Parts: sequence; structure tokens; C-alpha cells
Amino acid sequence: MSAIVRFSVSLEDDLLERFDCYCRQERFATRSEAVRQLVRDALTKHAWTSESREVAGTLTLVYDHHRPQLRDHLTRLQHDHTELVISTLHAHLTHDLCLEVIVLRGPSAKLQQIAAQLRGLKGIYKGELVMAAAEDGGRKAQSRPKGGVRRAEGRRMKALIPPPSELRPGSSDP
Ligand code: NI
Repeated sequence: MSAIVRFSVSLEDDLLERFDCYCRQERFATRSEAVRQLVRDALTKHAWTSESREVAGTLTLVYDHHRPQLRDHLTRLQHDHTELVISTLHAHLTHDLCLEVIVLRGPSAKLQQIAAQLRGLKGIYKGELVMAAAEDGGRKAQSRPKGGVRRAEGRRMKALIPPPSELRPGSSDP
């Protein structure tokens, strides 16, 4: 286990007040707990922006479907990146607004690239990418062992087919 190191931080009082409010709302036992988690989150996020790690993610878009050509651009971009786009869920929110959740998988840098392209289209009101490690030991590992799955289809196949343990929910195996 790592050694615990203490360090002090200088903050504006109003910022500290807001931070304490955040700690209470998020039910952190101590400020240190909250800082640890925030630091971990920030470092993870930073690592993803600079690494070619395999990740899975969802891109949530809210947009106005009346916007000229937006629908076409969205569809074209996704067809241009079928190696990254696994699935899309569409919901008609109001007369004007659509919600689209795009499930992605691939190297983190590429996911961020396509996410930036998609949410940068005119008429997109909100675009948020959430990513999770998509490899075993994802917190640490840079590479994963090569399996028996052919490289070209490997990613998509693995994404679409759950592991055998999940395919047998009723199984009585111990
Ligand atoms: Ni719609």
C-alpha cells in the first residue's frame, strides 16, 4: 500500500465553502476523500486524452432535427466510422428536439476525435462523452493479450457478444 503524504493547499474562502458544500452533498467523509477522488478522476481523464488505450464510451447528443442537413451530417459521420460506432439509440424528445446516444468503442484518442466532430456540428445543443476502460485491468494495462479473435472483427464481436458467463443468467453452475 502506498504511503500517505500530507500537503497543504491554499484556496479562496468562497471556493472552499463551495467545496465543503460539494463534499456534504456527495457524502464524502472528509475533504481528503473528496480530493483523492477528484485527483484520480482528473488524472484518469488526462491519461485518456493522451493514450491510445482501448475504451468504450457513450456520446449523448441533444439537437434540433429541423436544422438543415444536421441529420445527414450525423448519419454520414457515423457511417464513416463504423469501426468505432457500435450502436445508436434515438429518442424524439419534443416536436423539435432529438436525443441520440451513440455507443462507441476504440482507442480513446479516436473516440474523442469523432465525439468532437459530432458535437461540433451546427444545431447540437449538448454533447457529452463518457468513457470507461474497455480492457482487462484497464486501470493499469496499456496493452491487452492477443486473443483468438481475428483482429478486424475482434473489437466489434467482443463489444456485441457478452462473455459466456453473462449469456447464461439462469445457469445453476456454482
Ligand atoms: Ni428525433
